[in-house]
Amino acid sequence: MNVYAISASILSADFTRLGEEIAACEEAGADWVHLDVMDGHFVPNITMGPFIVEACKRVTKLPLDVHLMIEKPEQYLGAFAKAGASGLTVHVETCPQLDRTLQEIKSLGCKAGVVLNPETPVREIEPVLQLADLVLVLSVHPGFSGGKFIPESIAKVADVRKKLDAIGSAAWLEVDGGINAETLPKMKAAGATAFVAASAIFKHPQGIMAGIQTLRAQL
Ligand code: DX5
Ligand code: ZN
Repeated sequence: MNVYAISASILSADFTRLGEEIAACEEAGADWVHLDVMDGHFVPNITMGPFIVEACKRVTKLPLDVHLMIEKPEQYLGAFAKAGASGLTVHVETCPQLDRTLQEIKSLGCKAGVVLNPETPVREIEPVLQLADLVLVLSVHPGFSGGKFIPESIAKVADVRKKLDAIGSAAWLEVDGGINAETLPKMKAAGATAFVAASAIFKHPQGIMAGIQTLRAQL
């Protein structure tokens, strides 16, 4: 298993050719496929549901890293697990009983992830750090790919890294938003181990292979 993971966010993929785009990611050495689920309430955009997760599951062996930007995520965990999600990552801002939600994700056989919006302080997830298989620090305001990287998120990653190390956690520390060849090394230096990218992969001028290789070269 890699110490680091590159997670290709299909939010910037060409959905008329989704199967081919995912195959290209797999061929180029992506470690995970990242799916951004948005409900138009928690974030101002509507994207995909379990149906797309299920379609991705049929075309790739890569783990499906599902990021739930939805209200009441607990109502949909079973559907996403059944569709083939490997990991389900829920926002602390949407989960009044975060520990229960993470336990439920695990009981469904998925890796349990927790994610913080840029303005949410790290202390909000401290009580559940021991439970989390993955902590995601968002480095853009959620809703769209191609957003502007928020530099303050580097210090936030370092803070989460310190807290994970302090409790001996082996959880993935994932970053998402504005990750490219320039920002990835800074996030890596701060302690991140998993790197989500949409634009840097799918909008790379030389194509998906070059996009992934460019990121991988920074690891
Ligand atoms: C933002 C999503 C991200 C997004 C990243 O709401 O969670 O996964 O697709 O896009 P880029 O890599 O273009 O910033
Ligand atoms: Zn995401």
